[in-house]
Amino acid sequence: MALTIQPLHPQFGAEVSGVDTGLPMDDATFAAIRSAFDAYAVLVFRDQSLDDERQIAFSRRFGPLETAGTANPAKGTQFARQSNLDMQTGAVIPAEDRRMIYQKGNYLWHADSSFRPAGSLCSLLSARIVPPEGGNTEFASMTAAYDALPDDTKQKLEGLVAEHSLVYSRETVTKDALTPEMKAELPGAWQTMLRTHPVTGRKAIYAGAHASHVIGWPREEGRAFIRWLNDFATQPRFCFSHAWRAGDLVIWDNRFTLHRATAYDTVRHKRLMQRTTVKGEALTAAQPERYELAAA
Ligand SMILES: [Fe+2]
Repeated sequence: MALTIQPLHPQFGAEVSGVDTGLPMDDATFAAIRSAFDAYAVLVFRDQSLDDERQIAFSRRFGPLETAGTANPAKGTQFARQSNLDMQTGAVIPAEDRRMIYQKGNYLWHADSSFRPAGSLCSLLSARIVPPEGGNTEFASMTAAYDALPDDTKQKLEGLVAEHSLVYSRETVTKDALTPEMKAELPGAWQTMLRTHPVTGRKAIYAGAHASHVIGWPREEGRAFIRWLNDFATQPRFCFSHAWRAGDLVIWDNRFTLHRATAYDTVRHKRLMQRTTVKGEALTAAQPERYELAAA
């Protein structure tokens, strides 16, 4: 089947048509999708026939999947569930419930799992129930942002390592987002602040909301630099917004893009998105011993 690839933004992102990722796929078709992923970093597929089983089968072609931790209602499965619906009863979860407060962290620009030592290669998010308005996902190209950095900042990034932590990013939203059990499960990771694409050779900024501070710098100075970098990298010129329809699948590269969710009326409307997350292929930086132990 011939794929059609339609760019969505001058710098990155493409809509792929002519394929149903819910159906068995030959190797040549998957190879074309994988190379579009390397070229565009965000791929949008409309009108897909995905259910949970099909999504897992397709996602596994990119690599091994993460298992959701304690912080997600789908704990122990290969889905990170993003929803305002109770998993057991299907009822709308009240806005003040911890599960909804926790999801507010998704309004911050971030790369999924950058707080895990191996990070994530990509996420696959499938829209099952979509609100009539709001609840978009926005993407920012860290490659385009890097290219636009002043030369002295590009040089400064060479060799820098940042500590990433889910506890840090969630506590910027509220101090009560995580239980002690969740905190113990995800101590953090060290990541280089610059990544080079293994296929295209292009460089990109690696930071986002989970990046807490710069190793070897005074904490506040590192925080201020990361804030500046995140603000610079998420200017509208490096971004596009995806308005979801039920049946959409979007795959994004967690190494070279940031993303965030936009708000929707969680009391009046229903939303159910299923995310599978493909593990990162390699460490970007040596980990301190305490993180190696936690990741083992
Ligand atoms: Fe995310």
